[in-house]
Amino acid sequence: MLSPSVSSTKSSSTDAVYALVESVIPKIEWPVFEPHVAAINELKKTRNAVILAHNYQTPEIYHCVADISGDSLALARQAVDTDAEVIVLAGVHFMAETAKLLNPDKVVLIPDLAAGCSLADSITAADIRELRRKHPDVPVVTYVNTSAEVKAESDICCTSGNAVEVVESLGVDRVLFLPDEYLAAYVAEQTDVEIIPWQGHCEVHERFTASELEQYREAYDELTIIAHPECPPDVLGVADYVGSTAQMQDYVQTKRPRRVMMVTECSMSDNVAASVTDVEFIRPCNLCPHMKRITLANIQQALESLQPRVEIDPSVAVRARQAVERMLAIGGSRIVG
Ligand code: 13P
Ligand code: SF4
Repeated sequence: MLSPSVSSTKSSSTDAVYALVESVIPKIEWPVFEPHVAAINELKKTRNAVILAHNYQTPEIYHCVADISGDSLALARQAVDTDAEVIVLAGVHFMAETAKLLNPDKVVLIPDLAAGCSLADSITAADIRELRRKHPDVPVVTYVNTSAEVKAESDICCTSGNAVEVVESLGVDRVLFLPDEYLAAYVAEQTDVEIIPWQGHCEVHERFTASELEQYREAYDELTIIAHPECPPDVLGVADYVGSTAQMQDYVQTKRPRRVMMVTECSMSDNVAASVTDVEFIRPCNLCPHMKRITLANIQQALESLQPRVEIDPSVAVRARQAVERMLAIGGSRIVG
């Protein structure tokens, strides 16, 4: 529910912003969003703040108030480059922690501290210590979808956009690859390095099925199916392309398929469709309840109060930062699949 106390602003100040989302937000709904958009864009100036938004944020956040948007890798990279004093992370908690690790002296806000992630919840620092006892001398590659405590026990981080490069950068025969079992299986197909997985899953991507996608293929001619590598292997087997959220977006923007189905979180298609109007989007999607905790109303509240802040124990942060910085030192994200 949006706050009734939000002061109204002349609509002309946000007309240009509305033009960015008019193909995905009906005009009749805009008055609900418009006062928050105007207030947030003013608050960003007075607070010297920047908003980093993940590709799964809703279009009114992604297109109307975000300064930087992208996949987990892009957000981590951009977090390093910002001169702003305050970073608002419109995404989930592990993303805000990554931004804080890379900017220990800045104020990093997440509008709802409860915006979690089933992958991050699937593994603890104690689990990693136990794995290291079982597999001594095998490096630990940890997906960024983990807590800072887990990153602190890891040798290096990766994202869905650079996982193969990160694994191969280590120059070893075997790695522990945690916590996403399906991403691990996907990486194992792309490399000769032996991958020892964990049993974590994304609660959003694990719900897609291959038979569901096959039915869509039968129903729609010339359908291009692109999927996130957190999906189960049989789902990826049906897809024409597999990539991180940014790679999926690049695929649609450059290849311009006639019809596309993005097998991932629902807001992805809305955000890409807002700028790619010549592609038809078929939208079976699953919502991430954690990403959806972030709203214009709580972004505005976070900027007004400069709360809630993300804080990380310094003894954890120093080791977690190393794992993230090692990943960033590796460079670009290869388009795989
Ligand atoms: P990306 O790094 O591909 O954006 O994925 C993050 C995520 O949480 C996917 O579920
Ligand atoms: Fe975590 Fe899945 Fe949500 Fe991404 S979509 S934040 S992996 S629960």
